[in-house]
Amino acid sequence: MVYEYADRTKKMKASEIRELLKITQQPEIISFAGGMPSPHSFPIKMIEKITDKVLEKHGAQALQYGPTEGLKELRELLIKRMRKRGIKCKLNEIIITTGSQQVLDLTAKIFFNLGDYAIVECPAYLGALTAFNAYQPNYIPISIDENGIIVEELEKKLKENKNKPIDFIYTVPTFQNPSGVTMSLERRKQILEIARDYDLLILEDDPYSELRYSGRPVPSIKSLDKDGIVLYTSTFSKILSPGFRLGWVIAGEEIIKKMVIAKQGADLCTNTFVQWIAEEYLRSGLIDKQIPKIREMYKRKRDLMLKALEKHFPEGSKWTEPDGGMFLWVTLPDKINTKEMFQEAIKEKVAYVHGAAFCVDGKGYNCMRLNFSNTEDDKIEIGIKRLAKIIKKRMK
Ligand SMILES: Cc1ncc(COP(=O)(O)O)c(C=O)c1O
Repeated sequence: MVYEYADRTKKMKASEIRELLKITQQPEIISFAGGMPSPHSFPIKMIEKITDKVLEKHGAQALQYGPTEGLKELRELLIKRMRKRGIKCKLNEIIITTGSQQVLDLTAKIFFNLGDYAIVECPAYLGALTAFNAYQPNYIPISIDENGIIVEELEKKLKENKNKPIDFIYTVPTFQNPSGVTMSLERRKQILEIARDYDLLILEDDPYSELRYSGRPVPSIKSLDKDGIVLYTSTFSKILSPGFRLGWVIAGEEIIKKMVIAKQGADLCTNTFVQWIAEEYLRSGLIDKQIPKIREMYKRKRDLMLKALEKHFPEGSKWTEPDGGMFLWVTLPDKINTKEMFQEAIKEKVAYVHGAAFCVDGKGYNCMRLNFSNTEDDKIEIGIKRLAKIIKKRMK
């Protein structure tokens, strides 16, 4: 039978990373490709105890459907935690979602008309592009440097596209995926002002800001927002477990109401059981014992990777030195195409994600994203050395 898919489905492509991850999962390959937390970051014993407690305390309720907005108890704890980070919101301005990935989907679902525009960073988080693509938007890519989005380019492109229906600016301002870069405070303020002038929303995706290993914290864009133009999303994926699929979104009440309706159509409610586990994790303060352990582990891994890059990578290559998160971004000499080099890397039993996969402007072909959180300490230098070997070979 010939299946008559919808036009939007015909345009759907398998995510390059997902396909690639299948190859890189072979045990002999040292993979810097995925975006996964370390298996050692999961507080398994702690979760075991909390689970027993949740079943004892909330039993049937924990196994029942819950409100689409998420558990009130969990939202209240998140409001308190967010307030400490300068983000103020009321109960009707926050909902729990199935990961922050769902927020990206819901935002696209409620804002994109066919043919609308979104402003995205270059490079951008690939999962966001996959979520947005289902609604067939056009993109206006903006380059980033070591301080995040280049404001002059943003202003120039906004002028050029003045009459286009642009819905929002999507940004991961802190320890960006894929580059590891953090947007400076000055740029955050400028972007907020520009968004206000042009009547644009900002979708601030913030999964990594709790994972800082050096430098001083920079306030979220949401915490600087006085006009309700920032939709802010974060997640338990990197500070508890991505398997839980728990995230949250903070926005004005009107937007939240629309999101709730859109979410009802998607999954009725977020997993109630794990919401109660997260509630206990926050309320008991266990979260504040666990996060420092994760930070310590990832700081060590980041430093090992930076040291290995310094030692083994050839002259002419450069990389970001992120203060946190899980990724860094390597730029190789112009003549090296990292997509073409990938098969060679697999033969050498090392993997990465090629840069072009993250760039809607066709750039990034000589770049690669390296993940440092998911590789055992003693494998990091070995993997970097393997990569250096094939790069040097190509350079010749
Ligand atoms: C920037 C960014 N946004 C969103 C997500 C999705 O996270 P979640 O597991 O909360 O859906 C990720 C996951 O890696 C990410 O890196």
